[in-house]
Amino acid sequence: MTFLYHGMEARGAVWAEIFATRVPQLPFRRWGIDAVDPATVKYLAAWNAPADVIAQFPNLEVLFSVGAGIDQLPLAALPPQVRVVRMVEQGIITGMAEYVAMACLALHRDLPFFITEQRAGRWSYRHTRLAAETRIGIMGLGELGKAALEMLKPLGFALSGWSRSAHEIPGVECFAGAAGFDAFLAQANIFVCLLPLTEQTRGILCRDTFAKMPSGSAVINAGRGGHLVADDLIAMLDSGHLRAAMLDVTEPEPLPDGHPFYCHPAIFLTPHVAAETRHTTAGGVLADNVLRLLAGDPLLGEVDRTRGY
Ligand code: NAP
Ligand code: GLV
Repeated sequence: MTFLYHGMEARGAVWAEIFATRVPQLPFRRWGIDAVDPATVKYLAAWNAPADVIAQFPNLEVLFSVGAGIDQLPLAALPPQVRVVRMVEQGIITGMAEYVAMACLALHRDLPFFITEQRAGRWSYRHTRLAAETRIGIMGLGELGKAALEMLKPLGFALSGWSRSAHEIPGVECFAGAAGFDAFLAQANIFVCLLPLTEQTRGILCRDTFAKMPSGSAVINAGRGGHLVADDLIAMLDSGHLRAAMLDVTEPEPLPDGHPFYCHPAIFLTPHVAAETRHTTAGGVLADNVLRLLAGDPLLGEVDRTRGY
């Protein structure tokens, strides 16, 4: 029985040491570096894996995502009995909360406008608002959405959230499901997408959705590029209905040369850096999860494969 790791070499080196100490009974091997008998591989950790992963490792039982999301894995090619586990670790969670706070403050205080004016050599006054006058709407109230809300609370923003099932979060107006979507969209000013990419959420940031947001709203996408319909965003920015967008994720990544997002005056890009998996904290989480697996206990972050997240 072998645990195989596929991904960044530096992370593999750190995780090999953590596993040697914490899970010495299970051989930890690095794809492309260590010799491994494919028939012994029961557990694989990867950001992504080839579509023929099952042909290569016919006895695979559990696929661990190195990231919080799992849509990048070849899910359709995995037999239903293969368990899929996402990464729930504090480095990703804190990183995302920081990114959302940064992006919300930047858009709330009109930083894009002031930067544009500066670059044009203009000293342009624009009235500013306090956080209590701006409502942030978080799409997705999972590990990352809840952490982002906790980071935003002390800044004084009015807060809303939307999820598939009903949630109660102190200080946050919560909406749920398709029935609550329009009401959620109607009352916030800055929207943050922290949804997983599933069949239900692909393309959710589209013209219809934007049209239901108040005029002058801003959008932050730190979920996945597939949540956003690029042409719809550009049309809604150009019409003035949306004020600005900050995008950490795009489809594809990287964006090809000449893509309109690069130069659009109201779009601000970061190259998928909102929340990175931290070698040490994530290695500890993974080792703990493998110990749970070996003990037959429930796993942290196991994905409901029928639900898709
Ligand atoms: P999570 O804990 O699984 O939470 C997902 C949330 O989305 C839950 O609140 C869930 O609702 C909600 N949701 C799912 N499908 C929905 C639907 N159809 N309608 C309404 N709400 C829906 O996930 P997470 O750990 O917070 O991560 C979220 C995503 O962030 C990841 O999947 C990944 O794509 C992205 N991410 C991006 C970066 C980056 O650097 N940009 C880094 C890490 C992760 P319920 O609560 O009702 O289940
Ligand atoms: C990054 O995008 C992740 O899913 O962890």
